[in-house]
Amino acid sequence: MSCGVVPSPVTPGSSGTVMFMCGIIGYVGERDAQTVIISGLKRMEYRGYDSAGIALVTSQGIDVRKKSGKLVNLEKELQAHPMASSHQGIGHTRWATHGGPTDQNAHPHLGQTGRVALVHNGIIENFATLKAELAKQAATFTSDTDTEVVAVLLEREVASGQSLLDAMRATVGRLEGAFTLVAVDTDSPDTVVAARRSSPLVVGVGQGENFLASDVASFIEYTREAIELGQDQIVELTPSSVTVTSFDGTPAVTRPYHIDWDLSAAEKGGYDWFMRKEIFEQPKAVADTLLGRINADGQLTLDEMRIDTAQLRSVDKIIVVACGTAYHAGLIAKYAIEHWTRIPVEVEIASEFRYRDPIITRTTMVVTISQSGETADTLMAIRHAREQHAKVVSICNTNGATIPRESDAVIYTHAGPEIGVASTKGFTTQLIACYLLGLYLAQVKGTKFGDEIVAQVRELEALPAKMDEVLHDLEATLALARDMLSEHTVLFLGRHVGFPVALEGALKLKEISYLHAEGFAAGELKHGPIALIEEGLPVFVVVPPQGRDQLHDKMVSNIQEVRARGARTIVLAERGDDLAEEFADTFLPLPVVPTLFQPVLAVLPLQVFSCEIATLKGYDVDQPRNLAKSVTVE
Ligand code: M6R
Repeated sequence: MSCGVVPSPVTPGSSGTVMFMCGIIGYVGERDAQTVIISGLKRMEYRGYDSAGIALVTSQGIDVRKKSGKLVNLEKELQAHPMASSHQGIGHTRWATHGGPTDQNAHPHLGQTGRVALVHNGIIENFATLKAELAKQAATFTSDTDTEVVAVLLEREVASGQSLLDAMRATVGRLEGAFTLVAVDTDSPDTVVAARRSSPLVVGVGQGENFLASDVASFIEYTREAIELGQDQIVELTPSSVTVTSFDGTPAVTRPYHIDWDLSAAEKGGYDWFMRKEIFEQPKAVADTLLGRINADGQLTLDEMRIDTAQLRSVDKIIVVACGTAYHAGLIAKYAIEHWTRIPVEVEIASEFRYRDPIITRTTMVVTISQSGETADTLMAIRHAREQHAKVVSICNTNGATIPRESDAVIYTHAGPEIGVASTKGFTTQLIACYLLGLYLAQVKGTKFGDEIVAQVRELEALPAKMDEVLHDLEATLALARDMLSEHTVLFLGRHVGFPVALEGALKLKEISYLHAEGFAAGELKHGPIALIEEGLPVFVVVPPQGRDQLHDKMVSNIQEVRARGARTIVLAERGDDLAEEFADTFLPLPVVPTLFQPVLAVLPLQVFSCEIATLKGYDVDQPRNLAKSVTVE
């Protein structure tokens, strides 16, 4: 392996504004390339699953197979028409944004003569101009994609006598937009070349073999040594070398790292769905995220917090930006951080953030929450925040992803790979990271005493055992799913931190069960939504712990209100909460925890309920329609 010496750049705002997701893989080595590529694509199918393809360099030239639909369609094609053996190839699983999900538009794409094959994540913004220019030179195209234009350009460069590496460098110089490209060339044996701008690309470093992929899960079976590529870098792989340079040809310093989880974490391990497996992994994921946070002096430490304490003390406003489930975690964070630090916290959907011209100063801290660390809306929001001189702290589950790379500080959650599209352990570990951040700021600002902070951390450390309790007592939840198969609408109500839990319960149900589900702040009911209540309508209610009397009692009144109008009430409340239980058609008891931490427990039955109802309906829980795991399109 040979690597040069220039820091991999972190360049906020340096890429285009539109990206899309897909999984890409490249392999060169002694193994059967088809086996490596197909197994890698299987582990990345969550990234996009509307078409898939593979290209192998064989003694007869490049052989390409591609099929619309899920990967299984491609596998059937390969069984029916086996490919020749090869040790060098590329693959792709697609979530279409540019050209419909057809066989023709699936990747890889070939150049004009079939000498090079190319896979691509991203959008080439000037592709129409390039295509028109090539058409004038008699180029013809078989797809509607921008990718094919790049394949044609690349092939022209190699045909002019350049190496694949130099040809790639020349080609990316002509492209505008966001792109990660991986290519092979029949005349470049034992070589795979890739270029990265914006979407993720990681090198897997093996013995006598090397890998490239959007996600380490795709090569974890073969190696746990990886190198993350920086923005605007090109890599050339051979079986025995990895050479990274920047787009201008300067050698690059690389950041090798060891992947601290193994193949079993990337497989279903006996569960029917990744989602179900990930639900049950939550106690461990939460425990891992809490590990080693209190040092020998009794201080809370966040080792990736690289902002100095003077700057932290000056923070006078926090804005949390995130999407989907991560946004719900942010809504809960607001209650905790404001309570402990007295710093005002705003929570914003990342896709809305920069368009409202938010008020950001040097003393604003922007906290971003993202499981994948690649969500485009969130990435663009933090780039905007940094341009306005805010300090950005990211909470992320993916080591080396773009968002943490572009942040001033990172709190990594230690959930392990989350593969199910519906986020579960991502959410609960994000909550833990938010609590830790709030307590850390309270420590730095002196708004809580040290012993109070340690006491809160001890309460957090007690959560995994309580989560286990909930996850071992699911009979009533599973029975509800069986019973509600024919429902069309389900409502979720909550107050205080229970409100975001209600939103999250509704989101889970929508995304995998395709049921109409809504979450409401229970106090808002009387301002409109109560009109939806009719005989038998299922309403989940998240009741706050009994210690908060006013809050608790108001919530019980809300249950009575909907029940009086015919709703079927499913009540999640503290064990022993007789008042709440009295108005429950189904009572789902939760272990006793402080109010702020209740979401970590209350969300569990809601996740299980959604997973079960989607399973019973026969849906693909891990790959729900129209969705993909990393949403790298704005
Ligand atoms: O990777 P991120 O945490 O940034 O993803 C954010 C959302 O796209 C994600 O939480 C999405 O809402 C999930 N599918 C919800 O289960």
